Amino acid sequence: MSGNGLVSEWVIGRRFAPANNPFWQNRLALITGASSGIGAACAQRLGRAGLRVLLVARRRERLEQVADQIRLHGGQAEILTADLSQDTERQRVYNQVCEQHGGIDVLVNNAGLGWYGFGAQMPWETALELLQVNIHATVHFTLLFLQRMKERGFGRIINIGSVSGGLPSQGIAVYGATKSFLDNFTTALYRELAGSPVKISVVRAGPVHSEFCDTAAERPGGLHLPTERMGVTSEAVAERVWGLLRRPRRTAYIPRILAFTPWVEAGFGWLIDRLGPLLLNKHK
Ligand SMILES: NC(=O)c1ccc[n+]([C@@H]2O[C@H](COP(=O)([O-])OP(=O)(O)OC[C@H]3O[C@@H](n4cnc5c(N)ncnc54)[C@H](OP(=O)(O)O)[C@@H]3O)[C@@H](O)[C@H]2O)c1
Repeated sequence: MSGNGLVSEWVIGRRFAPANNPFWQNRLALITGASSGIGAACAQRLGRAGLRVLLVARRRERLEQVADQIRLHGGQAEILTADLSQDTERQRVYNQVCEQHGGIDVLVNNAGLGWYGFGAQMPWETALELLQVNIHATVHFTLLFLQRMKERGFGRIINIGSVSGGLPSQGIAVYGATKSFLDNFTTALYRELAGSPVKISVVRAGPVHSEFCDTAAERPGGLHLPTERMGVTSEAVAERVWGLLRRPRRTAYIPRILAFTPWVEAGFGWLIDRLGPLLLNKHK
């Protein structure tokens, strides 16, 4: 990649880099789950950086509000409503994007949902929805757009994972496993893409302030996550995503200190085996 803007960022450092990097001007980014939280913040961040953004989610009104905010600040945004739990809807989005734009430069697979409680009490419909949105949608879009990006000779894919993917925890058996899947999937593709102009990364986020915990608790049998009052802002995650686009790497933790979490499982998994159920029972 030889964009001058990128080179200048490497040379002068991120803090002093120009807000509107010519390398990224008018590049097209598709962001799933852009109607709230991390997805909305990513759309706004990339829009501010000069990328054209395609916002995908189910709630049209919320997407329009995010798009209006981006346009208000001089950015370019389009919305596409789709239920990403459905194969046909994902294929429709892909076909429409390729027909209208030829392809995309950036894909942020962010749409996702959670559920907190004892796995034995999780309704199958909820588990299936988590698998469909957190895994199927990410894998489907990645495979479709990756091929296209390789043909076009450029691309960035960011999958929004979670620290829970590397730290199996009581109460989030299915959710954590979907994020482990994303870690494994992204890492394998990252290795396959070595030396190619297409890059893929996974963001392992700790707790983030968003509607995520409320949505999880609204599902049948779901509890409020104990982490709901903790965490970083969606804007902080968006800033990390923007950083990853410019300096791709396999994994990024937010906050960075959480990079120790895989060692916690390796070193203290035996302790979590004993304390985990107590914590979940207490919370219940
Ligand atoms: N919040 C956290 O603590 C945290 C921590 C680590 C990782 N994450 C991950 O970050 C991502 C974003 O979560 P968030 O915190 O920003 O939560 P959020 O505010 O609840 O956002 C979730 C987004 O996913 C979209 N979505 C859900 N189901 C969908 C479907 N069937 N079709 C299309 N879009 C769908 C929602 O849009 P519509 O409802 O409009 O469709 C919404 O825009 C998720 O992948 C989550 O696992 C969150």
